[in-house]
Amino acid sequence: MKKIICKDYEEMSSIAAFILAEQIRNKPQSVIGFATGSTPVGTYKQLRELYDQGYVDFSEVTAFNLDEYFPIRQDNDQSYYYFMRDNLFNHVNIKPEKLNIPNGEAADPHAECARYDEKMAAYGGTDVQILGIGRTGHIGFNEPDTQLPLATNLVDLTQKTIDDNARFFASADEVPRQALTMGLNGIFTSKHILLLISGEAKAEIVRDLFSGFVTTQNPASLLNLHSNVTVILDKEAASLL
Ligand code: F6R
Repeated sequence: MKKIICKDYEEMSSIAAFILAEQIRNKPQSVIGFATGSTPVGTYKQLRELYDQGYVDFSEVTAFNLDEYFPIRQDNDQSYYYFMRDNLFNHVNIKPEKLNIPNGEAADPHAECARYDEKMAAYGGTDVQILGIGRTGHIGFNEPDTQLPLATNLVDLTQKTIDDNARFFASADEVPRQALTMGLNGIFTSKHILLLISGEAKAEIVRDLFSGFVTTQNPASLLNLHSNVTVILDKEAASLL
């Protein structure tokens, strides 16, 4: 895995935004896998600025998001559907029909997962997949376990992840207990994985990520097996390396 250690969050965000902008400039019909959470917020802000400056055009881009809480209404301001519109999609010229996010309102979540995988496969996977990492080592919402799903799946969130994400909700009780998440296959079929990591709270999991071992107990460690991963992290996240 290629590692870029940045002086701060701003630098991490602008490097990530430039990599994405260059990807889209070189291939306007790029398929981009987007992530949510705090980490990519700065990247999306910088991408909006690059768009405003006329540097990048999203009109031919197709988006596939990594995950969505389940169940959750799309108009809930904590849904990832809402997050992506608020942070990026409403501010650039990406076409609504090219946006794909697992449907947290689906009556049959398993059918929704199958539909999602079929659609992604029809595009041949993503050109770039943006990822964050949870303190558990989760990527998407693939939490540590003895085995990890290949397919998009309905998964239970761990207590640690519920506690971490409670900061966005009125209380931990309001955090949905499940999520629809791309599985390992959806993530690994990406041609280029861009893993963004910020802050001291991630330092231990970053140390484990670069320990030289892989284990399903740290799902992100499996990224060591992909041939094109760029990890962009700030000094705090890299502090135990
Ligand atoms: C978000 C996602 C999660 C986050 C991870 C880190 O779509 O799939 O894996 O990337 O929980 O979240 P933050 O960035 O809030 O620390």
